[in-house]
Amino acid sequence: MKASEIIGGPKAGEIMGHLCDIEEGSAKEFTYRAGPDLRAIFIYRKGEEVFSYENSCPHAYLPLNMKAGLFTEKSGKYFMCHNHGALFDIKTGKCLAGPCNGQSLTKIDIELKNGTIFAR
Ligand code: FES
Repeated sequence: MKASEIIGGPKAGEIMGHLCDIEEGSAKEFTYRAGPDLRAIFIYRKGEEVFSYENSCPHAYLPLNMKAGLFTEKSGKYFMCHNHGALFDIKTGKCLAGPCNGQSLTKIDIELKNGTIFAR
């Protein structure tokens, strides 16, 4: 889903941040509200790349993290839902192990250009 399709979210082309704002192996979180609809997303940095997903685990629709910015297990190789331990591929969002095995996080379409992150 494009970031600009989130109700109450950023417009296409809007700046969402800069690569240098996000610590390596950490994520920046955003919440958008439009009436009763609350959507949370995160943008995770891995090296010079960023990956964005809706912060909602397909198992029980809870946020993946319990601490700000902490979305992976100890090794940093996989996203981990800290509720019941589901593991997700960072690049695709696909659940590789846990109660929602085979399902996927909702990917949010963003663009990184010259160190600046834009909504699509
Ligand atoms: S809510 Fe994520 S594993 Fe259960």
